[in-house]
Amino acid sequence: MRIDILTLFPEIFQNFLDTSIVGRAKNNGIVEVNCINIRDFSKDKHKRVDDYSFGGGPGMVISPEPVFNAIMSAKSERCKTIYLSPKGRTYKQQVANELSSEEHIILLCGHYEGIDNRIMENYIDDEISIGDYVLTGGEIAAMVVVDSIVRLLPGALNNQESFTDESHYNGLLEYPHYTRPRIFNGFEVPEVLLSGNHSKIEEWRKYQSLKVTYERRPDLLKEAKLNKTEQEMLNTIINNKNFNQIENKNKL
Ligand code: ADE
Repeated sequence: MRIDILTLFPEIFQNFLDTSIVGRAKNNGIVEVNCINIRDFSKDKHKRVDDYSFGGGPGMVISPEPVFNAIMSAKSERCKTIYLSPKGRTYKQQVANELSSEEHIILLCGHYEGIDNRIMENYIDDEISIGDYVLTGGEIAAMVVVDSIVRLLPGALNNQESFTDESHYNGLLEYPHYTRPRIFNGFEVPEVLLSGNHSKIEEWRKYQSLKVTYERRPDLLKEAKLNKTEQEMLNTIINNKNFNQIENKNKL
């Protein structure tokens, strides 16, 4: 896969792109990531890329020409051009899954009051927000997108780092993990995990995954595709919760 990041601050990406799983995937040729400085496409003798907003008001707007030229320099036949902005569709694991099967994406990072809207209207395929808050620019959002996509690419994670059990992969939050020591400050590891009984461990993990999802993100359960056993487990969790609530009320 190829990812081109169009930014006014390419230096922000250096450590991120050279470190950990993303750095390894780049070194192994699983992904090619290029940072393209929009300023390099400015025709202005001082390399300015912004200008006043037509209609007045505070804040500067990034001019369309350097952005257009930067996009054209990166564009390939089958690529998706994505603008990072708080106005975009909300980024979710499902969107990461979709994007990870693209051959080539261009991530355009905005700044100041934004980019001249004619770029959005005519040269952008998708607009993504990483959440309902405003960042100073699209760079951190672009890193979030790159990180979440690269780890899904075949060969990016090794066996120990497999993503199939983790939160959101199957629409549920992940079960808890424990490591040595067996007793830490008097707190014990759940007995079943020490039993060596793999089917019991798997059952316990599924139960915990459903329980934590029910308690923290019940909205996810509406979308999750549960099989019959999982649905029965969920019913038990819900009934237990109701039972505990009645018990607690009776105690008061
Ligand atoms: N740029 C500024 N805020 C942003 C957000 N929430 N998501 C994506 N890009 C942004």
